[in-house]
Amino acid sequence: MDVYALIGRPVEHSLSPPMHEAGYEATGVDARYVTFEPSSATDAVAAAVDLGVAGLNVTVPFKEEVLPAVEPTERARRVGAVNTVDFATSPPTGDNTDVAGVRRAFEHAGVSLSDVRAVVVGAGGAGRAATAALGESAASVHVANRTLSRAEALVADLDPAVPATLSAGPLSDVDDRIAEADVLVNATSVGMEADETPVPAAALHADLAVLDAVYTPLETRLLRDAAAAGAETVDGAWMLLFQGVAAFERWTGRDAPVDAMNETLRARL
Ligand code: ATR
Repeated sequence: MDVYALIGRPVEHSLSPPMHEAGYEATGVDARYVTFEPSSATDAVAAAVDLGVAGLNVTVPFKEEVLPAVEPTERARRVGAVNTVDFATSPPTGDNTDVAGVRRAFEHAGVSLSDVRAVVVGAGGAGRAATAALGESAASVHVANRTLSRAEALVADLDPAVPATLSAGPLSDVDDRIAEADVLVNATSVGMEADETPVPAAALHADLAVLDAVYTPLETRLLRDAAAAGAETVDGAWMLLFQGVAAFERWTGRDAPVDAMNETLRARL
């Protein structure tokens, strides 16, 4: 039996164990998925090697801290964060499947990302992953953040690595950027704690596809405003699902049973 694990703090209420185990069950993979709250991410990777753990997911607050313990993929290096460790290599490979999570969430919704003008709100780990994902095929990605210097640093890091033209700006003029955009991603935590949105409802329009990385609640104020404006909406559970699907496929070498994993995930949300 293979053992997969998630490290982070807190991980008690993580939806990854049921989502991955639904995947193992549906495909007949003999595996379990467990969670740990280690004191050190690098020690946890060393322990996972010794214990023969087959794969590790990494979440807050360890996604950057784990980098020195792995050989990062080009994608993970670009984003500056690892969420999936593959022990088939030595040293283990550190990937970032949040990037695939964003791309595949849009693809699943039938939204083409080819040559789009995109706006990403937020410049933390989720903002970096979303910018890397959209930057692969968009014409442009504008990153708007409350703290402008963080958006500027993100753009400086990712601009050389992606074909799209990247720009950074404050949240105050995000309306003008959204007016010209085809795709919008909320990569801030706004909407999680309270019924709030990071962008004014009046800025949204019918030619927009909107992904909210927040998945609690599933229907955020941003997505309600977007639907009311006639925009296409993609909730955060799709991004959560597809980062897990990408990890499952990397680890097992099989196509993930997307429907089974999705049903289990949504039943718990
Ligand atoms: P993650 O790794 O999940 O992206 P993070 O690094 O803590 O988490 O980043 C959170 C993002 O949400 C940041 O872009 C943050 O803006 P700042 O860089 O200015 O802190 C954004 N954010 C959090 N609360 C916000 C709020 N009330 N209004 C606007 N942006 C907010």
